[in-house]
Amino acid sequence: MKHIILIGFMGAGKSTLGHALARRLEIPFIDTDHCIVCKTGKTIEQIFQESGEDAFRQLEREILLEVVQQSSPSVISTGGGMPCFFNNMEVMNKAGTTVYLQASPDSLTSWLIRSSNKRPLIANMSEPDLLHYVKETLATRELYYLQAKLHVIAHSASPEELAPFFLANSE
Ligand code: S3P
Repeated sequence: MKHIILIGFMGAGKSTLGHALARRLEIPFIDTDHCIVCKTGKTIEQIFQESGEDAFRQLEREILLEVVQQSSPSVISTGGGMPCFFNNMEVMNKAGTTVYLQASPDSLTSWLIRSSNKRPLIANMSEPDLLHYVKETLATRELYYLQAKLHVIAHSASPEELAPFFLANSE
């Protein structure tokens, strides 16, 4: 079995599904944002505020290269922007099975409004502004997301449905 790498927009449920899938497959779960927080000792918010988005993307890239090199297969949940910078999508497609958690702007916006996670790119946005941001950003990011090997419907794909697929493909 190779790594299983979950990608998709903020609010698509990558960490929730990733945790559950890893538990089901009895393999480690890795969250790239969490790795960045551990490596820097700073929150994602602090990194954006103190060093800016470019520095965050650089850190994200370094973490990606580190985690895909780990030999034991893991479920890896990535930040929503990860696939859209450098050749990260190519790196992920080489390292394992990429899974795009697909959702409409309306459903992403309603998940994000209800989420307690502080995301610097959308901090303090009103619901109409957030919907506009999600529509515009998703339109450019989908070019990358759609390069994933598997596409599933966010928030309805379950680990029970997905696990047998990966078990069947393991060596
Ligand atoms: C980002 C998504 C976040 C986090 C950072 C930037 C993005 O991760 O990496 O705030 O560019 O979409 P989640 O997708 O887990 O919220």
